[in-house]
Amino acid sequence: MKILMVASEAVPWAKTGGLADVVSSLSITLANLGHDVRIVIPRYYSIDRGELKLLPGAMGTPMGGIEEWSAVYTANMPNTDKNLVKVYFIDHEIYFGRDGIYGSPSESDFSDNSRRFFFFCRAVFQLCRKIEWYPDILHAHDWPTSPAPVYLKFAERVPQSSGEFKNTVSVLTIHNLGYQGIYSKDNFNYMGLGWDVFYNAGFEDWSMLNMLKAGIYSADKVNTVSPNYAKETKIQAHGFRLDGVLRYRSADYTGILNGIDNKVWNPEKDTYIPQTYSAKDMSGKAKAKETLQKEFGLPRDPNVPVIGMVTRLTEQKGVGDLFGPAYGSAWSICRDMDVQLALLGTGEYWCENEIASLAARLSNFKAKIGYSEKLSHLVEAGSDFFLMPSRYEPCGLNQMYSLAYGTLPIVRRTGGLVDTVENYNEQTGGGTGFMFDQLNPSSIYNTVGWAVWAWYNRRDDIEKMRLRGMSQDFTWESSALKYMEMYNAALKAKS
Ligand code: ADP
Ligand code: GLC
Repeated sequence: MKILMVASEAVPWAKTGGLADVVSSLSITLANLGHDVRIVIPRYYSIDRGELKLLPGAMGTPMGGIEEWSAVYTANMPNTDKNLVKVYFIDHEIYFGRDGIYGSPSESDFSDNSRRFFFFCRAVFQLCRKIEWYPDILHAHDWPTSPAPVYLKFAERVPQSSGEFKNTVSVLTIHNLGYQGIYSKDNFNYMGLGWDVFYNAGFEDWSMLNMLKAGIYSADKVNTVSPNYAKETKIQAHGFRLDGVLRYRSADYTGILNGIDNKVWNPEKDTYIPQTYSAKDMSGKAKAKETLQKEFGLPRDPNVPVIGMVTRLTEQKGVGDLFGPAYGSAWSICRDMDVQLALLGTGEYWCENEIASLAARLSNFKAKIGYSEKLSHLVEAGSDFFLMPSRYEPCGLNQMYSLAYGTLPIVRRTGGLVDTVENYNEQTGGGTGFMFDQLNPSSIYNTVGWAVWAWYNRRDDIEKMRLRGMSQDFTWESSALKYMEMYNAALKAKS
């Protein structure tokens, strides 16, 4: 099968969150199953042209009233056995030759984002013509590439089109319903399709233009990144106003759990941690804890439990209740409990400030504000618990990394966290982590307190839970097969 991933992020080139990991690892896994998988992303300013190969000739893309010209670069996915996955980069200086993927510190959401991604999505079809390669599956991700299924359905697959894509079907994966790409509807002119498409494709949203909504309406199949989030998003409380649309697409809407890349996130092979380890010999975990305490400036003590966090500092991740006004729960946890907290993260300015001020006052709370692949591995490996009090969580990768590293997640019972973590049972000693329902400072405080109590009083249970977590299978292989089922169902429905 020929599969084209159309995305705004892919590791190692461009990443703001889990989407980038998923696009690349899913592609690699599908390619390993024998499929011809390619990825296309924009050539952002931060991606060094020197490391890419330029395809000869400029590429023209017809947009509303104007033809846009771009260059196309290519590279192979690194660290794959046979350079399995080819990656294409659309290079348009005005749209992508700037710092930032969706925004910058001075403009958090670029005002021309709808134009940037309309252009990118249409250029994808021109790219296929340029390389004379037409996919069976066009797989879009989140709002930025939602226009791709729209172009397919309303421009490239209609009888009056030139027909190269007549057998192509589209799939849209929703990684985060909280970001929809909502802009003024004037921007639609630039899409270059008739205004009937604005309504028929589902762009219309209270007189605004909603890119994700149109993708959900127009893609042949839609999925999100965990079964539980698929269920949740069909109800109003979790649907971010699109629950109705998702109910409408119910027959074509599923949840497929993300996997994790076990070449990268594997304590037995991890090159970022001081000493590798496995369920049979956990001495490397103790070493990682010691190094973590040292790196973060926490007192070195193997007996005190360390709670780690690696996160974007945004409302989605529950940081308001942890660090919000009057210090939320992090302050009282560190004040009242014999515990250490180590956080790695970047994000909202207020939150970074609160964290810095808290870390200055407490000896058992330390933070690194910044983005570091290496430190994120150290936090996963060196912590005893991993805290994710998410407000909502489509899947979440970090809790799966934690389980693989024998680090027990403390999570809110929401989204993919429900599909991946099993609550501790004091009677049987069962479970893989600690869960709570309501998001408020006292629930976080009480549940962390419960985990800390178990650390000091039920150590056998803790050790067993670690091993149980480490034996879980969250690899991509089974999820990739589910994607294949969805692709096949889309092709079957079309023929
Ligand atoms: P989301 O995509 O919503 O941020 P996920 O749990 O799916 O949540 O994925 C987050 C990814 O980003 C993980 O791979 C995590 O390790 C990484 N990450 C987040 N913040 C940082 C950071 N400050 N430094 C390094 N990695 C980070
Ligand atoms: C989003 C979600 C996260 C998910 C990731 C990858 O960023 O917030 O829960 O794991 O996408 O699908």
